[in-house]
Amino acid sequence: MCGILGYTGPRQASDILLNGLAKLEYRGYDSAGVAVLDKGEIKIAKNKGRLKALEEKIKAGGAEKISGTCGIGHTRWATHGEPSEVNAHPLWSDDMSVVAVHNGIVENYREIKNELSQHGYKFYSQTDTEAAVKLIDFYYKQAQAESDGRDKDKLPLKAILKAIKKIEGSYCFVLLFKDYPDEVWGARKDLPLIAGQGQGESFLASDVSAILQDTRQVYYLDNLEIVQLKKGVVRFFDTEGYAKPKELSEVTWDMNAAEKGGFEHFMMKEIHEQARAVKDTLGSVYNSGRIHLNEMGLSDESIKEISQIYIIACGSAYHAGAVAQYVIEDLAKIPVRIELASEFRYRNMPFDKKALAIIISQSGETADTLAAMRRAKENGIKTLAIVNVVGSTIAREADSVFYTMAGPEIAVATTKAYSAQLIAAYVLAIQFAKVRGELDENASEKLIEEIQKLPEKIDEILDEKGRLEEIAYKFVNARNAFYLGRNIDYAVAMEGSLKMKEISYLHSEACAAGEMKHGPISLIEKGMLVAGIMTQKSLYQKLASNMLEAKSRGGFLLIVATRGCEDLKDEADFVFYIPETDEHFAASLAVIPLQLLGYYVAVARKLDVDKPRNLAKSVTVE
Ligand code: G6P
Repeated sequence: MCGILGYTGPRQASDILLNGLAKLEYRGYDSAGVAVLDKGEIKIAKNKGRLKALEEKIKAGGAEKISGTCGIGHTRWATHGEPSEVNAHPLWSDDMSVVAVHNGIVENYREIKNELSQHGYKFYSQTDTEAAVKLIDFYYKQAQAESDGRDKDKLPLKAILKAIKKIEGSYCFVLLFKDYPDEVWGARKDLPLIAGQGQGESFLASDVSAILQDTRQVYYLDNLEIVQLKKGVVRFFDTEGYAKPKELSEVTWDMNAAEKGGFEHFMMKEIHEQARAVKDTLGSVYNSGRIHLNEMGLSDESIKEISQIYIIACGSAYHAGAVAQYVIEDLAKIPVRIELASEFRYRNMPFDKKALAIIISQSGETADTLAAMRRAKENGIKTLAIVNVVGSTIAREADSVFYTMAGPEIAVATTKAYSAQLIAAYVLAIQFAKVRGELDENASEKLIEEIQKLPEKIDEILDEKGRLEEIAYKFVNARNAFYLGRNIDYAVAMEGSLKMKEISYLHSEACAAGEMKHGPISLIEKGMLVAGIMTQKSLYQKLASNMLEAKSRGGFLLIVATRGCEDLKDEADFVFYIPETDEHFAASLAVIPLQLLGYYVAVARKLDVDKPRNLAKSVTVE
C-alpha cells in the first residue's frame, strides 16, 4: 500500500518527508511526491520511480524552490491509473486550494467525477484520488461561500466532513489547504493513520516507522476521525465536527518491527491484510449494486460470445485458477481449462478462437505466464489478465486487465494476492453467469452479499490462529505430508500444500482424494500429516472415507472443515472449523488455516519465512 506523511514544525518539510518516505520504501511503490506549503503557495515535486530520483529532481530544480516547513509526502503503489508522474500524488484542485495524498480506494469515484463534471470540474489524472481532492475542494468552496468569516478556522474541517460522508471505500487522506499556513489535515477510514507529537512540531504517517526517528509519542486515530496538525499541536474531531480528546502513547518497538507493522514477518502481516485485500478487490469493481466489467474491456456482447476459457498461470496463481475453474463452470456453465503457463506456452493444441484466456499473476512479470499469454494472443485469443502490480508487463500487454487490490506483497510466499485473485475469479464467474442468463439479479446479489461477508469471517479465523501455532510444533521434525480434497477442496489442498513446502521445506503433496488409492497411499507412514479439506457438503462422506483409509495406515488426520460438518469429528486428530459460507467461496476461508499452518511450522523450524531458500517473489526467467 501507499506510504503517507505529513509534517509541520520548524524544520524544512521536504527533508523530513523524504527521510520518512525512505522508511516506507519496503512497502513497495512505483512513484513518489511531496507538496510543501510556504507563504500561501503550495509547491509540488513528484515523479515516477524511486525516491532517490525525486530527491535528485528536487536538488536539480534548486531545493529552495520547494522550501517551507509544512508539507505532505507520498509513495504510491498504483491502483487506479498506471504509474506515472501525472498519477503520482500529491494531487490538487485546479486553483491549488486543496492538495492531498491518499492511500486506499475511493470506490464511488466514477459517480463523484460525474457529479463534479456537472459543476465544471475537469480531471487530469486517471486516479480515484483526484475525484476525492476535487470533492473536498467543492465542499470547501461551498463552506467559504456560506461563511460569515467567524468560522474561518473550521472551513477545512467542514469540507472534509462533508466529503467523507460522500466517499465510499477505505481511505486515509492527508491534506494541505493553501489558505491555512502551517496546518496539515488528515482523515481515515479502515486504513491506518498515526499522528506524532514532537517539540514544536507534529507529524502524520500511515506507518509509525516513518516518524520513529523523530518522535516516539504518537496518537492512533480511530476509524472515521479527522486530525488537524499545527506546529506542535494535534487536534482530533469526530464525524459531527466535535473535538475529541485522545491519549498519547509511547512507541517501544524497534524500527524493524515497526516496518512489519508489529508482526514478526511480512508473511504474517500479509496474512492479516487479507480481509482488506478481499474487500478492496470487490469494492474496486462492485459499487452502486452493480459489477463494472465494461471498463476493463469486457462488454456483455463479448462475454456472451465466449465459447470456453483457458486459465493460464504459475504457482499459487495457478491454484487460484484451479478454484476459478470450479466456480466459473458451476455458475456460468462455461467450460474451463486450467493450464500451467510453462506447459501451455509449448503445447501444440488446436486453439479455439472464441475462447477467452484468463491470465493470473501477482507480479505481472512471470516469464512463463507472459510467454503463454503472448502465445494465446498470437493465436487470436482474447486475453484478460488478473494482475496485482499495476503497469506490469502482463497488465500492459493483455487485452483487458482486472487489477486485484492486494497492495504490495513482500513475503515470497503469496497470501493476500492469492486471496484477492479468488475474489476476482468469483466476480467474473457471477457476472459471466448473469450476462449469459444462468443467474438472475436476485441470485447474483445474494452471492455478492456472501462475498461481502468474507472479510469478517477471515478475521474470525485469524482470531483462532493460536490453535494452529500449537499444533504446528508437532510437525517440526516431520518429513512428509499429504493434503487431500475433492473439487474446490482439492484446489485449496494444492495451495495449502505449496504453502507448507515452500516455507517450511517439509515435503508435501496435494492429492485429489480419489487418486490416493492409485499410488500415493503407499507412502503413508505412522504419524504422517494428512490434511483434509471439507467444505463441499455433497463430498463430505467421500472425503471422509479417503481420510479414514489414511488413518488406518497410521496418518495423523488434520481437518479443515466448515462449521457443521460432523464427519470425522471423532476420528480426526485435530479439527479446525471455519465459518459457513456459500460453497463456491469456501476456498477463501479454508486456505487461511493452511497458510497459518505452513507459517507456524516454518517458524518452529526457525527458517527464514519471508525469503525461503531458492525461491524468488517474481520469476522473470524461464
Ligand atoms: C513465484 C512465487 C509464487 C507465485 C508464482 C507466480 O513462484 O513465489 O508465490 O505464485 O511465482 O507468480 P505471479 O507473480 O505470476 O503470480
